[in-house]
Amino acid sequence: MTPDTPPLLAACAVSRRFPIRGSGGLLRRTAYQLAVDQVSIALYAGEVVAVVGESGSGKTTLGRMLLGLTAPSAGSVQYKGADISRLHGDDWQRFRRDVQVVFQDTGGSLNPRHSIGDSIALPLCYNLAMDAKAAASEVDRLLDQVGLAPNNFRHRLPHELSGGQRQRVGIARALASRPALIVADEPVSALDVSVRAQILRLMADLRQEQQLAYLFISHDLGVVRALADRVLVMYQGRVVEAGSADEIFNHPAHEYTQRLLAATPVPDPAQPLQALPLDSQP
Ligand SMILES: Nc1ncnc2c1ncn2[C@@H]1O[C@H](COP(=O)(O)OP(=O)(O)O)[C@@H](O)[C@H]1O
Ligand SMILES: [Mg+2]
Repeated sequence: MTPDTPPLLAACAVSRRFPIRGSGGLLRRTAYQLAVDQVSIALYAGEVVAVVGESGSGKTTLGRMLLGLTAPSAGSVQYKGADISRLHGDDWQRFRRDVQVVFQDTGGSLNPRHSIGDSIALPLCYNLAMDAKAAASEVDRLLDQVGLAPNNFRHRLPHELSGGQRQRVGIARALASRPALIVADEPVSALDVSVRAQILRLMADLRQEQQLAYLFISHDLGVVRALADRVLVMYQGRVVEAGSADEIFNHPAHEYTQRLLAATPVPDPAQPLQALPLDSQP
């Protein structure tokens, strides 16, 4: 990669304000809260960048702006150097395929009446224009890739899955579009500790196999330790510290980062991922 290659996805000084509920009215001016305040971030192919910070610090709003789901109040989001608010037609479709999302319980947002196989096939047919036969074999390949035996899972309904299995389906759906980047917003926060480690392991494997990039959003520093190359720490809508994972974990400069770290047992970076005590609950 030459220094001139634009990042896959970047936010340039993005801000987003929301009206504060109950403010405004006939005689009062609406008051606004800055959920994200002039944040810049660049995401390159194959890289894992973590955004950490306590609840309410603006992580999800930043992620939604990068996905094109929330418009910035100021600043811009660029996909391969082009402002996403100016993308149309094929360029917009390419962006929507290339940048996928996994939420805290993506699998939980599956249509309860659609089988797992049908839910995964849908983006294949609509976004990639596959015919039914090609989609069916791609569904099996994707299920296999996320560790769900196709014969056992293809016909199941969402309520017949555990939380961890549903999150695997959520990841399979994201992978179906063959993305370069997945924005993962608290992807393991709703899961039990042992299941959490399995999903993180899967995400690490997929990254290796497919040179995937992740924007990994978490309130929990312990969870991002094993995956992240770089870390941004957010506090009240701003990035208060950014650096390599080593810098952030071993030499946190900002007092807020030090407090976050103190609240999280930090695993030994020399340990392999499977061995990490991923339970960071106090
Ligand atoms: N759609 C919205 N309308 C009003 N306020 C919002 C909206 N989304 C987020 N906020 C506010 O913006 C702030 C940041 O929220 P969020 O981005 O969800 O933070 P995080 O993901 O770090 O918990 C919070 O104070 C939240 O209440
Ligand atoms: Mg959030």
